[in-house]
Amino acid sequence: MPTVEHVILRELLAREPGWVSGTALAAKLGISRVAIWQHMEKLRAAGFEFEAQRSRGYRIAARPGTLHPQLIETQLRVRPKGFTLLVLDEVDSTNDEAARQLAADRPTPFAVLARRQTRGRGRLGRVWHSESSANLYASFAFRPRVEPERMQTFTLWMGLNLCELLANFAHVAPGLKWPNDILFNGRKAGGMLTEARIDSDQIRDLVFGLGLNVNTPAGGWPADLARRAVSLAEVAGAELDLNRLAAALVGRVLLAYQTFVDREHLKLFADLWHRYDVLRGRPIALLEGGRRHQGTVTGLDDEGALLLRDAHGKVLRFRAGEVTIEKSA
Ligand code: BTN
Repeated sequence: MPTVEHVILRELLAREPGWVSGTALAAKLGISRVAIWQHMEKLRAAGFEFEAQRSRGYRIAARPGTLHPQLIETQLRVRPKGFTLLVLDEVDSTNDEAARQLAADRPTPFAVLARRQTRGRGRLGRVWHSESSANLYASFAFRPRVEPERMQTFTLWMGLNLCELLANFAHVAPGLKWPNDILFNGRKAGGMLTEARIDSDQIRDLVFGLGLNVNTPAGGWPADLARRAVSLAEVAGAELDLNRLAAALVGRVLLAYQTFVDREHLKLFADLWHRYDVLRGRPIALLEGGRRHQGTVTGLDDEGALLLRDAHGKVLRFRAGEVTIEKSA
């Protein structure tokens, strides 16, 4: 059910940069102009600024710089039946919250977004820096009910979709580094963490988590990340509209999931992989289970494993690992 704030935002966004009269809003919603004004105050408290003119009504002057649930919902283009969106101020980890919601039988699909995480997690038990509400911390929950083998290339597929989304949305040139990093010139702007619970031979549920550095300014990182992390705003040279990006992201993730489950992704995967993969032909070191392997990346197999040609010409295959790109000889 859309709330009054949803409807007000929908009307204002549809007319932007034009005006919407208070009388028209009041008539549409069947409430008084005073009530409209009170709802506008609520939206102001959440970070909106409005211009108001007696003869013309209202129009949006500024949007909130942090996540705003109704603004995201209003801008969603795709909305599968039953989809719900949770936007939290602070949570330990959106992946953990999604898992708790799944355990409590919340219907899927749903998304959990948070302005901050107190225990944001990355792969291999690493911490995901999650203190800035200028960035995105998002988890998407599904119950795919397919064999685990079917999902082997899922994270890579989602990464390709995210690269495509960012390229179109922010006119930037991202790269995907196997298995889960979104990079710009070797610096990391996004990381993905997919976690699944498996019943005997089927996936019971799956959480796809994404951390995306959106508007942290250059110089805004803690010392240990300063040389490795980058935000989209730094790359694009301007701040991005976080809520518009969040809405586009939700739409793209839901669509990409469905395409994958319907096996429609098979026709598109190779093209996107060639466009966004940053490792092909590069000399790398790959750390796996305490062992370090070196070689040149030759590609990916059907199961999403990375193929590496070592110094003896032997092709090695890796299902997991930590990759460092080495300098070419
Ligand atoms: C990585 O690069 O190692 C993966 C990072 C994944 C971070 C995201 S932020 C939203 C979601 N919640 C978490 O605790 N982790 C993922």
